[in-house]
Amino acid sequence: SGQGAPVCVQRTIAREIKQLEKLAKGRYGTVYKGEYKTQFVAVKKFHTKEEDSWKREVELYNTQSLAHTNILRFIAADNRDNGIATELWLVTDYHEYGSLFDFLTTHTLTEEMCINMAFSIVSGLHHLHQEIDGLVTKKRTIAHRDIKSKNILVTKDFQCCIADLGLACECGSVESELTPSAVAQMSTVGTVRYVAPEFLKLEVQNELFNPFMDLTKADIYSTALVLWELLNRTVGFFGADQDSLPEYQQPYDGMVQSEPTLPDMKVIVVDQRQRPPIPVILSPSSVNRLDVLVGIVTECWTEKPATRLKALRIKKDILPLLTVNDP
Ligand code: ADE
Repeated sequence: SGQGAPVCVQRTIAREIKQLEKLAKGRYGTVYKGEYKTQFVAVKKFHTKEEDSWKREVELYNTQSLAHTNILRFIAADNRDNGIATELWLVTDYHEYGSLFDFLTTHTLTEEMCINMAFSIVSGLHHLHQEIDGLVTKKRTIAHRDIKSKNILVTKDFQCCIADLGLACECGSVESELTPSAVAQMSTVGTVRYVAPEFLKLEVQNELFNPFMDLTKADIYSTALVLWELLNRTVGFFGADQDSLPEYQQPYDGMVQSEPTLPDMKVIVVDQRQRPPIPVILSPSSVNRLDVLVGIVTECWTEKPATRLKALRIKKDILPLLTVNDP
């Protein structure tokens, strides 16, 4: 039920790619722009020590139904020995605008764009989280575990798609019991700045790990931070007649140091219960569309995982805000 071609075909595709320039570098490895026949592709080359991330991501793409507009499209995977090390490749669609993080540092958004992007992110997340047990389509619930603006790409029609499934984990049912190895892994996953309160407590206080922890709830928290990043670059978020927006900010910028540690995050997020700032909009008019998004964000970054909205609920709440452009 995966979307990939047979592995031998994938290898053939990968070996016909003309490599172009370097696009991005991360802790996992490096992303290059490439060319396959007449289309551009993105080639993610993993560090040898990141073999587990490569395996995880390739396995998910090859075994789960991940074909969705708002999930980065998989094309091929390859592992080859270049004499010194094994090269681990993941080939996907290429997106000109790069990551949402890159996009937000160089662009501001209209209300329209903000709402469309928010809807697209939550649609991709809902697909990941959704369990599908149809006749043809089958997939398990997948928790992404590293949602952040650097792991989301912007398409040419200003939609977003979720990428980087190297840390993702299949949850049998929504609240599956975690294995001891999964528990051991918890301590090292995700990006510190986006780690949910329940994990910050766990890390720092050695609180008893709850094996029934719902990992999709942590994705919802991280997604709320991403939605805040969108809002913070949207014209109108700081009042109707403000025309200059602040520079792009990462969540919790100015509240923690630039490379925060887990204890730094715990002080701010858990002990002081702070969240990224939301301006008080003294708008006399009735509730506007950005207010609805603000409501969603504040319901999704709550301390208690159980009170956060589910991805499907958020989709339904944003749906009426989308304007249909038909005549
Ligand atoms: N940067 C990281 N992944 C990318 C992709 N698939 N397309 C364009 N830029 C990227």
